[in-house]
Amino acid sequence: MADKKAQLIIEGAAPIDLPVYSGTLGPDVVDVRGLGGEGYFTFDPGFMATSSCESKITFIDGEKGVLLHRGYPIEQLAEKADFLETCYLLLKGELPNAEEKTRFDSTIKNHTMVHEQLKTFFNGFRRDAHPMAIMCGVVGALSAFYHDSLDINDPHHREISAIRLIAKMPTLAAMVYKYSIGQPMMYPRNNLSYSENFLHMMFNTPCEDKPINPVLAKAMDRIFVLHADHEQNASTSTVRLAGSSGANPFACIAAGIAALWGPAHGGANEAVLRMLDEIGDVSNIDKFVAKAKDKNDPFKLMGFGHRVYKNFDPRAKVMKQTCDEVLSELGIDDPQLELAMKLEEIARTDPYFVERNLYPNVDFYSGIILKAIGIPTEMFTVIFATGRTPGWIAHWNEMISMPYKIGRPRQLYTGATQRDYPSK
Ligand code: SDX
Repeated sequence: MADKKAQLIIEGAAPIDLPVYSGTLGPDVVDVRGLGGEGYFTFDPGFMATSSCESKITFIDGEKGVLLHRGYPIEQLAEKADFLETCYLLLKGELPNAEEKTRFDSTIKNHTMVHEQLKTFFNGFRRDAHPMAIMCGVVGALSAFYHDSLDINDPHHREISAIRLIAKMPTLAAMVYKYSIGQPMMYPRNNLSYSENFLHMMFNTPCEDKPINPVLAKAMDRIFVLHADHEQNASTSTVRLAGSSGANPFACIAAGIAALWGPAHGGANEAVLRMLDEIGDVSNIDKFVAKAKDKNDPFKLMGFGHRVYKNFDPRAKVMKQTCDEVLSELGIDDPQLELAMKLEEIARTDPYFVERNLYPNVDFYSGIILKAIGIPTEMFTVIFATGRTPGWIAHWNEMISMPYKIGRPRQLYTGATQRDYPSK
């Protein structure tokens, strides 16, 4: 039921009435679906002002730097909830009580192993393959092992697919890393928490079972929480679009992983570290800031700017606090952190960045923490994908659970008009 009405007046045509809806938070939306029947399309490359769906999962206020998951501020979840609690919240809409949490943790633990055959998939890749290339492949291939539960219209199949994906992503991520360094892949351990288990599979070997540093496990868990969901970003929109064709959830998440890989999106965390490496020293910052401002130079300051946030990304603030905690716990004096903070200080006072509201985003500090934990740069986006899996699957499930149509945008065509093939 429309809350208000809009009227589109186009020269030489009768006014077109369009319904306007209000959400619980955020801007009103103009329902333009009727324009097709009036002979018009809307035009919004990059979806700068387009709502692709109705959703109850995550709300972002870009002006105020607010991020809510099912109404809970990200700052509170990062401080008080663990990652599996956040997964439960995203999937089911409410925080779990103690009994529900215990049951959910145990269910996830019972699905962390992958089919032994999946190991052979890795052998087709070079050892130096980019980890995201392997993740795209093996996650998409997971559907080959679950023929018994791919009916997307069956809520139980949707639920077990969500469990399997959340449970197996850390196992697959660690397998990708072990494959790249030629070490044996580690099996998950049911006596460890989600993030302890991930660090165990990443850094332990069959020869030694080193205890997991609880500070690092907590930092890893918080990094997963901070990446868990973010409304209709590029990779989540990719998952929804793939899902709208009826594709199975493993294929949809593989599509999301592929979209996340780009340096403008989830690939930015890896790109930030490489940029800091390239800058090298505080004395070079001005040169790189100038490059970032130069319209003829494609270089952008990685980890800065955001389509939605025109204020501080709330996740970046928590990430920076976590960075300080981890580095002081480990007694690391990372010159790249100093460099990053100096870069942030300069960028935040430079009129070019101030006028464009370019603030540090979630990717700016995450790489420094991941490096301190011992995770190699090329694995950073795999970590992002692991953290974002509950968000992707929650949006997929929300779409499939309600009436939906296949996503099929139109276009403004400016190509050749019809012409005949020349007679020989
Ligand atoms: C993520 O959508 C999400 O929610 C994503 C994400 C999530 O959790 O899913 O938050 C995760 O992807 C974070 C963003 C990570 N990407 C980067 O850090 C890469 C660097 N940032 C830019 O590529 C850019 O800021 C984007 C892609 C993030 C946003 O691009 P927009 O919204 O299309 O903005 P724009 O490119 O139109 O920029 C507006 C202006 C332009 O200048 P003018 O044409 O106005 O003169 O700002 C400039 C841009 O050139 N600009 C930058 C810049 N980002 C924007 N200039 C230099 N350095 C930058 N980083």
